[in-house]
Amino acid sequence: MERYRFLTRLVFCAVLCIMVTQWNYSIPQATGQPGPQEQPAVAKKPKAFVVYYSRTGNTKAIAESVREVLGADIQEIKDMKDRSGFFGFIGGMIDVKKRPITEISPKEFNLKDYDVLLIGSPGWGMKFAPAITTFFNIADFTGKKVVLFCVTSARFKQASFDEYSKVITSRGGKVIDTFIIKTLWLDRNEMKGKAKKISIERAGKWMR
Ligand SMILES: Cc1cc2nc3c(=O)[nH]c(=O)nc-3n(C[C@H](O)[C@H](O)[C@H](O)COP(=O)(O)O)c2cc1C
Repeated sequence: MERYRFLTRLVFCAVLCIMVTQWNYSIPQATGQPGPQEQPAVAKKPKAFVVYYSRTGNTKAIAESVREVLGADIQEIKDMKDRSGFFGFIGGMIDVKKRPITEISPKEFNLKDYDVLLIGSPGWGMKFAPAITTFFNIADFTGKKVVLFCVTSARFKQASFDEYSKVITSRGGKVIDTFIIKTLWLDRNEMKGKAKKISIERAGKWMR
């Protein structure tokens, strides 16, 4: 009899143990977190690409500064025509008015991974240098937000930004902002500082 009672208790305890452990596994834990189907969509961070041409290094320094602030990728465009020295300067002055298309390297650009393009050029005769005008005419801007920046000694005209905006719009993009950095009397660090300040102030607008 005593043995029977002991066995009954043993079986009862075993069944109780199984129930408790199964209960623990089968009831979902209340974590306060949404279930897999309720997870909010994580907004994709826009990717930025800085593209620039620079004859003497000012636009390059500024493009690097913008890239650093935005964590962007960067691409320098080379003009295949020799623009160095005094004759390069004179040739540039003539070409920007008469032959604003030039041979550039690279010839093709894969922009599909980017949401925002920041395109910089030195100001030549209040226009963009031919290397960048060429880029405007070959790039596919479909769906891209574009920021144009000009690096000039002293002067540039808004009408030129308007002209390039039209080209970019006709090729599927949208110019969302422009800025000018005047380099006369500034050393490279001062130029970079100006570019950094503008980039920090406007990053929210550009990278929305
Ligand atoms: C062909 C040529 C034309 C230029 N025209 C102008 C101009 O019209 N106005 C101006 O303020 N600076 C002008 N500049 C000066 C450049 O815009 C300035 O030096 C700029 O900072 C150069 O940038 P980079 O070092 O990236 O080439 C000209 C420079 C060159 C080479």
